[in-house]
Amino acid sequence: MIKVLKYLKKYWYIAALSPLFMILEVSMDLIQPDLMSKIVDQGVLGENMDLIFEFGIQMIIFTFIGCIGGILSGVFGNMAAQSFANDLRKDAFSKVMKMSFQQTDKFTTGSLVTRLTNDITACQDFVGMALRMMVRTTMQFVGGIYMVLNIDARFGLILLVTLPVQLIIVAVVLKKGAPLFGVVQSKLDRVNSVVQENVSGARVVKAYTREQYEIDRFGTANDELCNTNLRVQKLMALLVPVLSILMNASVLAVIYLGGLQVQAQELEVGRIMAAITYITQILMSVMMIGMMFQQVTRASASAKRIREVLDADPVIGSGSFDGNTEIKGTVEFRNISFRYPGVQANNVLEDISFTVNKGETVAILGATGCGKTSLVNLIARFYDATEGQVLVDGVDVKEYDLDALRKKIGFVLQKSELFSDTIENNIRWGNPDATDEEVREAAMIAQADGFIQGFTDGYKDIVTEKGSSLSGGQKQRLSIARAIVKKPEILIFDDSMSALDLTTDAKLQRALRENLGDTTVIMIAQRVASVMGADKIAVIENGRLAAFDNHENLMKSCDVYQDIYNSQMREGDEKVG
Ligand SMILES: Nc1ncnc2c1ncn2[C@@H]1O[C@H](COP(=O)(O)OP(=O)(O)OP(=O)(O)O)[C@@H](O)[C@H]1O
Ligand SMILES: [Mg+2]
Repeated sequence: MIKVLKYLKKYWYIAALSPLFMILEVSMDLIQPDLMSKIVDQGVLGENMDLIFEFGIQMIIFTFIGCIGGILSGVFGNMAAQSFANDLRKDAFSKVMKMSFQQTDKFTTGSLVTRLTNDITACQDFVGMALRMMVRTTMQFVGGIYMVLNIDARFGLILLVTLPVQLIIVAVVLKKGAPLFGVVQSKLDRVNSVVQENVSGARVVKAYTREQYEIDRFGTANDELCNTNLRVQKLMALLVPVLSILMNASVLAVIYLGGLQVQAQELEVGRIMAAITYITQILMSVMMIGMMFQQVTRASASAKRIREVLDADPVIGSGSFDGNTEIKGTVEFRNISFRYPGVQANNVLEDISFTVNKGETVAILGATGCGKTSLVNLIARFYDATEGQVLVDGVDVKEYDLDALRKKIGFVLQKSELFSDTIENNIRWGNPDATDEEVREAAMIAQADGFIQGFTDGYKDIVTEKGSSLSGGQKQRLSIARAIVKKPEILIFDDSMSALDLTTDAKLQRALRENLGDTTVIMIAQRVASVMGADKIAVIENGRLAAFDNHENLMKSCDVYQDIYNSQMREGDEKVG
């Protein structure tokens, strides 16, 4: 909680104004009953119209001042709370951006969304309320007691009985309720996860007609959230009626005690009226304190969850090397072994070594699940190797500043991700400074220009969310154009041509060779036809490097490669024939 509240420090001057104005408002509130009693005792009972008028005017002025205080207190309190939450959200978001794949997997997307929205809002509400209510309740409580005792010390007796009872009730309810707030938030995580999965996976759900199954799954999560919330609310609902009974009993006691004194002519009626108001204010303030504690416990449950995000140091730490190397465009794997963090299974990659020289095109070929994606992910440090080293331009990737390293690399991921923006901007995403010419050129190399021209708005055509308005192959080619426009030293294609027909694939390969000059290309593929023209082919089998050579030599020496070649080529023949 404290660490999260530190974000308020920057706005302390605004935050401080809120309680100051609140003091003004409460002071005015505290004066009112006293004035009221004077009007009754001296004005009404003393039959003095001028006095009623005079005190009446005073009451109106004080109310007005109090009102202004209240408004300003609210304005500044909210200003501070909003700025506080804004900063907090920004920081938490940039933490999420820096998280490695492994960390986002662990938090789950749903939970991260809840933490950045709902949890931060809970803290924001708390700050806004605390700034005003903390002062209000304390002043009402202390000031009220002072005023009541001032009227007649005997009224103190009533407080002596009711206050402890009230405190005990509030304490018991809160003690039971506090642990439930954390549970509510985690149930909300679950609801968010299911919604998020289903909204983004709507197509799959429909294709398998699993709507009912998913609706049920959502129902379960939703019911759990509802039930936990109800449990909290039931507890809290107890507070108000019980405290009201206590309060009304106290008022009765004041009237009874006061009545006796009025009969004995020791106290005026107006003073008793004032005492009733003060006692109500005191007991109300205790109730408010209870509410505030409820908010505190709730906010601290949320604060804890936000802190977990803020404290999540990137597992993949950035080095300091600025990436300024003499040689450019080489990648070397040195005795690489790799296992996914937190997974107990065997190594996914085992003792892999090979070098990709500047300007070469190296293909990585292997059966599905053999570890190709895992291998290239190590180059951009999406994960770190368990053993061994990956060197880019002769320098261990761990020594690079992450941005500098990733600047050298253009990565086309296995799963194309596009954004809801124009085609042009989607391509330019790879390099914000690219001119229209460069965007066009990249699209031409990626064999995308043709189909883009076919769209009504051409390059200005809008891609729908996640690229759902495009075919699989179109998405792949846009992703390729996006990587090319970046003009990196090293281009990595992770199975990026799988959705292209053989003709387009061949055209793309030729265009890459002709236009990319000395850009190093690492290309994962399943099809021998796509890799035959590469300078070298790394054949991966069950996480091990089976061979590393060019097509001709592999055909002579590598059984695995021959097998793949024969099976695919024969298949192709059959299809043709
Ligand atoms: N995030 C992950 N956590 C744990 N295990 C993983 C993860 N990603 C992949 N694996 C496992 O690592 C192995 C290699 O996966 P990888 O994605 O590297 O295969 P691939 O060769 O790229 O396959 P494909 O050709 O189908 O893309 C698989 O057995 C897979 O189950
Ligand atoms: Mg893969």
